[in-house]
Amino acid sequence: MASPITNIMDLRELARRRVPRAFFEYADRGSYDEVTLHGNRAAFDAIRLRQRVMIDVDKRSLATTIAGQPASFPLAIAPTGLTGLQCGGGEILGARAAAAAGIPFCLSTMSICSIEQVRAAVPAPFWFQVYVMRDRGFVRELIQRAQAAECSALMLTADLTLQGQRHREIKNGLSVPPKVTLRNLYDIARRPRWAWGMLRAPSRCFGNLEGRIGGADSLTTLAQWIASQFDPTLTWRDLDWIRELWPGKLILKGIMDPEDARIAAAEGVDAIVVSNHGGRQLDGAAASIDVLPEIIDAVAGRMEVLLDSGITSGQSLLKALALGARAGLIGKAFLYGLGAMGEAGVTKAIEIIRKELDVSMALTGQCDVHSLSPDILLRSDGRPYRTRQS
Ligand code: GLV
Repeated sequence: MASPITNIMDLRELARRRVPRAFFEYADRGSYDEVTLHGNRAAFDAIRLRQRVMIDVDKRSLATTIAGQPASFPLAIAPTGLTGLQCGGGEILGARAAAAAGIPFCLSTMSICSIEQVRAAVPAPFWFQVYVMRDRGFVRELIQRAQAAECSALMLTADLTLQGQRHREIKNGLSVPPKVTLRNLYDIARRPRWAWGMLRAPSRCFGNLEGRIGGADSLTTLAQWIASQFDPTLTWRDLDWIRELWPGKLILKGIMDPEDARIAAAEGVDAIVVSNHGGRQLDGAAASIDVLPEIIDAVAGRMEVLLDSGITSGQSLLKALALGARAGLIGKAFLYGLGAMGEAGVTKAIEIIRKELDVSMALTGQCDVHSLSPDILLRSDGRPYRTRQS
């Protein structure tokens, strides 16, 4: 009998075996030397939790709101590109699992299933993430499609106007839709479950872009396509235009600097995501958890601060919450679950993190996600955790 899945790394291992290498590594790896990818994890590990005892922790509450929307606990699914290539129909499966778990799901511009396909298959509202492309007419259309699908928040990603190089994408010849070449035939043939799912999938290309924007139907390389389409002229002034198009909740993702956080607060966005794009963009960027305390300070309660990049357990989520994040987002952990076991795997990933958060919170003597503070943290040498300003 196979050994039971007990943590996110078990899901990763299963996904590694079930998903063709090019797509697994797209999800799993980072840019350049992967210093930031590994740094994200190491920075979480360097923060320790303060064990407390003899406190009644029988009744605990994890429920919260994220960007004004109810959530069963402080977690959301991050927008991830090419999700439907980890597993056929992946975006629909992910959105369903998130809805059943009572947490927000964010669909990426670079998704395989389109906004409309996800909307038709999933009754609960989801968030939509937008990349600003050179073709502003197309961006307008994307935002209007998200509105028509009654998406409950728009997430603007600010840190990928140029793509940080991911060596594995190039070495693996990552292509969308997946091409059956001599090189990957053996890889695909060994993964019949994936291939079967892909044959039945509602889409195998970029669902939001296909037939609407040049070159999206068959991509030579993702990197080349992004370089030709994404708009590096994006500035704060473009927010006005986006605000006009989208009067609903607006979340800005990719903030790593207190100065940028201050500007975002002054611009009136509803929330930011402290994120280095999971170590996939600026290699050498700090770990997102390390910059969180100063950003929380800079924002001074004017908007919600969410965090991603490195959350692969309930313990790391707890640390982010203790440092002031309203919620965490999972990208890799979500994709591992999806690649491993489809919808059931996403449900499993969410449940693993929820339980880890719940138990770890109790073991620090806490009963409510809203009363967490840096008080429950220690430095790796056991000394009290102090933020710079305390
Ligand atoms: C897209 O968001 C990517 O990181 O590839």
